[in-house]
Amino acid sequence: MKTVLITGASGGFGYEFAKQLEQDGYALLLHGRDAVRLQLTLDALQYPERHSIVLADLSSRKATEDLIASLSNQENLYGLVNNAGFGVWGAFADKEGVAQADVIRVDLLAPVMLAHALLPRLKKQHGFMINVSSLAAETPLPYLATYAAVKAGMTFWSEAVRMENEQDLRVVTLAPGPSPTGFRDVSGAPKGKGSLFSTPALKVVEAGLQTLRMGGGYCVPGIRHRLLWLIQCCTPRVLALTMMAKYLKK
Ligand SMILES: NC(=O)c1ccc[n+]([C@@H]2O[C@H](COP(=O)([O-])OP(=O)(O)OC[C@H]3O[C@@H](n4cnc5c(N)ncnc54)[C@H](OP(=O)(O)O)[C@@H]3O)[C@@H](O)[C@H]2O)c1
Repeated sequence: MKTVLITGASGGFGYEFAKQLEQDGYALLLHGRDAVRLQLTLDALQYPERHSIVLADLSSRKATEDLIASLSNQENLYGLVNNAGFGVWGAFADKEGVAQADVIRVDLLAPVMLAHALLPRLKKQHGFMINVSSLAAETPLPYLATYAAVKAGMTFWSEAVRMENEQDLRVVTLAPGPSPTGFRDVSGAPKGKGSLFSTPALKVVEAGLQTLRMGGGYCVPGIRHRLLWLIQCCTPRVLALTMMAKYLKK
């Protein structure tokens, strides 16, 4: 069976990817840190016996390397969903440096390391890679400064890798706006911010997989997120910065 590794499969988008990719007939490697929550994902699937759980804290380079080494016998690896990630909400200077560096490690360094190690096998299989970026990549965001910068890096990297490999690998750069997952609680987001544009995780993942079926590309999922994207594209940066600084301040 064709196998797909989903990072961050213990909740949110990762959980939805697991459900929808299982329906497409894949065997899944469900990655996360929290074994109990990953087991809940596994229990929600129709054929749990087809899938397995892999644990790794992606903020640790050693743990990421160990995860890569543990995948060396996965000859049928067909897909990689770089989904695990989190943000740190608040003024840059007030937030812990370690947490900000971990955002870089989990949201960008680990996907780059995983992709570099797995790409030869994914290309051999004419498989796919989905990189979960964000609309945060489109505008510098005061009070989410590191996260927005890292997601900008993710979008640029993913789009460039997509073009380099378009002959033998389908790549989706998925750029959602706000969605009601664990992300907001983990990042410490104030209640209500961005809820006007909120789109369910199910719809976000459906749109990403639809883009995959069409051969890959940059995907802003759903009408609300596209509206937000349009506003971002039409607003001069200096104005966007001022507006976002006011809006995102707790
Ligand atoms: N929800 C939104 O509004 C939104 C919008 C745009 C983009 N995104 C992006 O969507 C992706 C998925 O987030 P989500 O919204 O589904 O949030 P979520 O429900 O909080 O899920 C995040 C996942 O990432 C994993 N993760 C976090 N830190 C990790 C670490 N150090 N090592 C390994 N795994 C780690 C978590 O695993 P454990 O629970 O096991 O730690 C969890 O499975 C992220 O890349 C996020 O930046 C989210």
